[in-house]
Amino acid sequence: MCGFFAIVFDKENKEMGKILTKAGRRLSYRGYDTSGVVVLDDKGNFDLRKDVGKIDEVANRMNFHELSGKRGIVQLRWATFGYPSPENAQPHADCDELIFGAHNGNVVNTHSLREKLIKEGHKFRGENDGELLVHVVEKYWKREGNMVAAIMKAAHDLEGDYACVLTERYGEKMYAVKKGSSLFLGVGDGFICVSSDLPAILDHTRHILPLEDGEFVEFGPDNFILRDLETGEVIWKEPQHTDMEVKEAEKEGYPHFMIKEIEESPKKAEELLHLLPSHPSYEEAVDLINATEKIYITGAGTSYHAALLGVYYFSKIAKKPLLISFASEFAELHGPVLEDQDLLLVVSQSGETKDVKNVLDYFREHSKGKVIGIVNVLGSTIALKSDLVLPIASDIEISVPATKTFINQVTVFLYLSLLSAKKRMIPSPAGFDILELVPGVVKESIGIAKEKVSEVIDAIKDIKEFYILGYGITYPAALEGSLKVKEVVYVHSEGMYSGEFKHGPLSIVEDGYPVFFITTREDRHMVLSHMNEVKTRRGKIITVAPPDPELERISDIYIPLPTSNYFLIPISATVFFQVLAYNLGVLKGIDPDHPRNISKTITVD
Ligand code: F6R
Repeated sequence: MCGFFAIVFDKENKEMGKILTKAGRRLSYRGYDTSGVVVLDDKGNFDLRKDVGKIDEVANRMNFHELSGKRGIVQLRWATFGYPSPENAQPHADCDELIFGAHNGNVVNTHSLREKLIKEGHKFRGENDGELLVHVVEKYWKREGNMVAAIMKAAHDLEGDYACVLTERYGEKMYAVKKGSSLFLGVGDGFICVSSDLPAILDHTRHILPLEDGEFVEFGPDNFILRDLETGEVIWKEPQHTDMEVKEAEKEGYPHFMIKEIEESPKKAEELLHLLPSHPSYEEAVDLINATEKIYITGAGTSYHAALLGVYYFSKIAKKPLLISFASEFAELHGPVLEDQDLLLVVSQSGETKDVKNVLDYFREHSKGKVIGIVNVLGSTIALKSDLVLPIASDIEISVPATKTFINQVTVFLYLSLLSAKKRMIPSPAGFDILELVPGVVKESIGIAKEKVSEVIDAIKDIKEFYILGYGITYPAALEGSLKVKEVVYVHSEGMYSGEFKHGPLSIVEDGYPVFFITTREDRHMVLSHMNEVKTRRGKIITVAPPDPELERISDIYIPLPTSNYFLIPISATVFFQVLAYNLGVLKGIDPDHPRNISKTITVD
C-alpha cells in the first residue's frame, strides 16, 4: 500500500535525497509498485524524480543521492487508480508545477472529479487519484489565494479515506491532511516532518503528534499549526515523547523475511507468554467479554482466520459464543442487529487495514459498546481508536504473508478463552499449562515441516489446484494454509470443511487429485470417512495430523505433527502450510516477501 514521508529543514540539506531514500525504505514493507521523490528549495527550484520499481532500484537509477534541498517528499505507491507507470507514480504536480503533493489511501470519486476538472481546463499527466487531489487543491488555491483555504475547500470535494502532504513551489511551508488514513507529525531540532508511518519519523525525532481524522497541519521547520479541516479552527496539541524503538529489520542471513519470520515464531510466542499475565489490558478485556452477551469479532485475511480459531477456542474452552464475520462484510451481516451494549473485537496485524477500520467506525456510529483491538502495530489507527488494546508482541513483520503474527494472535485467543473460563468458573477441557507448550510445538512443527516438505512438493509441484480440508477446530488452519499457498505460490487452493466436501466438490476428484486433510485425534473417525470418500475416487490423500497408524494407512503422504493436543493442532498444521507455501513459492521463482498484486497493509476498500 502507499506510504509517504515529507520533511522541511531550516536550511538547505545536502543529504536530502539520501534522507528520502531511507524513509522510503521504512515505508517499503507495505508493498508497492512505484517510488518517487520531489525536492524543493526556497527559490522556486524543484526536482521531481519517479519511476516504476522498488525504492532502492529507482533511487540508484535516478540518482536520488545527489538531491539536496530544504523540503522533500518521498512516496511509494501501490496501484489502485492507474497502472504502475512513471506518470502515475507519486509525488504529483498540478498543471503549472506550482504545487506538489503525494497521498496515501483512495479518493473514490476520482473518475467524476477528473472529468469535471478536465472540462474546466486542467491538464492531467496520468490517471492516479493522488494527481487528482493535487489538481483539486490547485483549483481552490487559484481561487482563494492560499493553501489553508484551498485544502479545506478541496476536502469537501474529495470523497474517500486518505492522508496527503502538499507544498507550494514558491513557498516555505508544507501542509498535511488526515482524513481516514494514518498520519504522524514529528518535531525535531531544525526540522519538522510528517509520515503515514511512524518508523519513518522515528529515525529523526521522538517528539510525535499523531493526527486525528479531520485535522490538518501547516508546518515549517520550526513550528506547526494544527487545524480542524471543517472549520479551520486552530487545535492546540503538543507532541509527546515516545520511547518506541525502531528496529532495523534485517534478514540476518535468511534468504527471505518470510522464512526468517516463520523461524522466529517460537521466540515471539515465548515473549508473548511472558507479557500476557502481567499486562492489565488482558484481564480487563476478559472482564468485558465475560460481562457481555453479544460479542462480535472481525478481521481480514490471516487475522480473520486467527479470529475464527479464536471463536472455536471461546466456544470449546470458555463456552462463550462469538459472532464472527469478515471485516468487509461486517456491516452487511451484523449492521441491522447491532445494539448499544454489544462488544466488538477487531483483529489486525497492521492496525491499518481499511476494511477493519471501517468496521470500527461503523460500530461507533451504531453502538455505544466498547471496542477491543488485538493488534501488532501499537501506534496504528486501530490501536488508537480502540477502547482497549491487546498487544500481540510479534515485533515488526516485514514479509507480506503473515506468519509469526498468526501464531501470536491465536495464542492470545487461547489465553483469553482460558482466562474467561477460569473467571467464570467454567470447567475447561484445557489448563493454562497448554500455553507453555506453544513455542515448543511451533519449533518442532517447523522442523518436521522442513523435513517433509520436499516429499509433498514432489507430489504437488505441477498441480494447478488442490483442496485443504479441516474439520471443526482444524478448519481455520485449512483456510489459512490455503491462503498462504494462494499468496505465495500463485496456485488455487481451497480450504473447506471436510464434511462439506461430499456436497459437490467431490466431483472434481479423479485419479491422483490431491486433497490435504488436517485432523485431530478426537475427530479422526469422522475425518476417516471423509478420507475414504476421496480415496475410493482415487484421489491422493495428504494428511497433516498427529501420528496415527490408521490415518497413515489410508494416506499417500503423511505429515506427523509433533503434538496430539487438540487445541494446538491447528497451530502446528498452519506452520506446516507456511513452510510448504514458502518452499514451493521459492521453487517457482516467486519472491515470497513481495507476492504480486498484494500488499502488507491494505488501506483501501
Ligand atoms: C495474509 C495477509 C493478509 C492480511 C490481511 C489483514 O498473509 O497478510 O491477508 O492478513 O490483509 O491484514 P491485517 O492483519 O494487517 O489487518
